Amino acid sequence: MKNLKKIIAGAFLFAACMFISQSAFAQKPAGKPWPAPDAAVKKANPIKSDAASVKEGKDLYAQHCKSCHGAKGKGDGSKAEKIDISCGDFSSPEIAKMTDGELYWKTTEGRKPMPSYKEKLSDSERWKVINYLRTL
Ligand code: HEC
Repeated sequence: MKNLKKIIAGAFLFAACMFISQSAFAQKPAGKPWPAPDAAVKKANPIKSDAASVKEGKDLYAQHCKSCHGAKGKGDGSKAEKIDISCGDFSSPEIAKMTDGELYWKTTEGRKPMPSYKEKLSDSERWKVINYLRTL
């Protein structure tokens, strides 16, 4: 009877360990450091963050970014599964530390597998998406 209890406890422990290690492996590695040039970091956002620009940014985000970055910017969009690096988390302290100019530059340039939005969105559309990112 004592042995049976030990076996059951052991099996539980094993299952718990498997579960924890699996969720740890589910975290994708971050991409290589991606610093923006100084001038881009210092570039000021010319579009005021008001209800109208955030709303427009949100619509553009849903159309162009959500599939990878996810509805809340956590990097858990439907396409993210097929990407072998993390899409990042827009609500993280790392992103909070970045300037609007830096986020704008990354959105403009892209870096595989992240597409470039230089041609797909206008300058003001990209700034509006950044205004929305700031609300996440
Ligand atoms: C096909 C998937 C995909 C789409 C669509 C996409 N991204 Fe990304 N994005 C990524 C990946 C992957 C990274 C990480 C790139 C790296 O580290 O090299 C990234 C990184 C970023 C970063 C930099 C984050 C950091 O930590 O430095 C910003 C900002 C960003 N994306 C904004 C956007 C915006 C805004 C849009 C929509 C206009 C968008 N992305 C659309 C996949 C995507």
